[in-house]
Amino acid sequence: MSRVSLTRYLVEQQREHGHIPSQLRLLIEVVARACKHIAISVNKGALGEVLGSADTENIQGEVQKKLDVISNEVLIEANEWGGHLAAMASEEMDSIHVVPHRYPQGEYLLLFDPLDGSSNIDVNVSIGTIFSVLRKVGHHRGVSEEDFLQPGRAQAAAGYCVYGPQTTLVLTVGEGVAMFTLDRETGSWVLTQDRVQIPADTKEFAINMSNLRHWAAPVRQYIDECLAGKDGPRSKDFNMRWVASMVADVHRILTRGGVFLYPWDQREPTKPGKLRLMYEANPMAFLVEQAGGMATNGEQRIMDIMPTALHERVSVMLGSKNEVQRVTDYHRQAA
Ligand code: AHG
Ligand code: MN
Ligand code: MN
Repeated sequence: MSRVSLTRYLVEQQREHGHIPSQLRLLIEVVARACKHIAISVNKGALGEVLGSADTENIQGEVQKKLDVISNEVLIEANEWGGHLAAMASEEMDSIHVVPHRYPQGEYLLLFDPLDGSSNIDVNVSIGTIFSVLRKVGHHRGVSEEDFLQPGRAQAAAGYCVYGPQTTLVLTVGEGVAMFTLDRETGSWVLTQDRVQIPADTKEFAINMSNLRHWAAPVRQYIDECLAGKDGPRSKDFNMRWVASMVADVHRILTRGGVFLYPWDQREPTKPGKLRLMYEANPMAFLVEQAGGMATNGEQRIMDIMPTALHERVSVMLGSKNEVQRVTDYHRQAA
């Protein structure tokens, strides 16, 4: 059987659906190439002196790891000269990075979490890169943060790369979800699964249980019922997984189903959640919906939230449709 590369997949998508303009194709290829570079650094580990802290802080007050900084630089350098982008935004940069004037300005905006799951870098557990692509709307000259403040449903493409036992790129351009495995011998991304579908039901949930005492009542109710197992109202036993890399948890859900929750909690009542809307929740919500799943903040569809700031946070519930529907219903009943 002939192998389908990422390039061929994109060319065929462009031909069949005509909605992947060449700038978007280039953008995705460039991001995929950057992820290969990041994968090489990740794999070197201690040998490449990429482990440990960079001793700097990002705008969210988190200490940056060396790989957070390296991955951010790799993505920026790869993407700024191709003519496909107007600007980029990242978890690791306070404000947007406009493409320098010496390069042509493209029509797309790229957002990324360069290294997701930073607490797992030094312990050799799966980590990843998450990205989201928006179009710059309007014909005004220049680009500002306001251009990025679009709801997730406006995304032109989204995806992630997971650096795990295999290096896998997962992508949507709005026509389903495809997975590509990195063939290290040829350096090529090979299509290994197309039209990914998340089963509507599941017996597996992912949540950081150490926060249990801080959760709101609807989340507690949902998890209590899962924990009650066969004898409880759900009449089935549930399993639990928590990798603490959103990329790895979402990858498991896209592969075999499940539900992922990082809900609002009472520790900081004014903070909507931990995860970031624009470069964590939105791209993952796009992938999950494209795979037949559901993603909400307990009240509304994640992709319908109108962002007001680049680094805005959000409560996240995503995965198997019937479970996300259930926990969202509990929130609505409590409101
Ligand atoms: P990041 O490493 O990009 O800051 O993201 C970490 C996020 C996410 O990947 C994961 O689901 C969550 O933080 C884990 O949080 P806890 O450590 O609170 O479990
Ligand atoms: Mn992250
Ligand atoms: Mn990160």
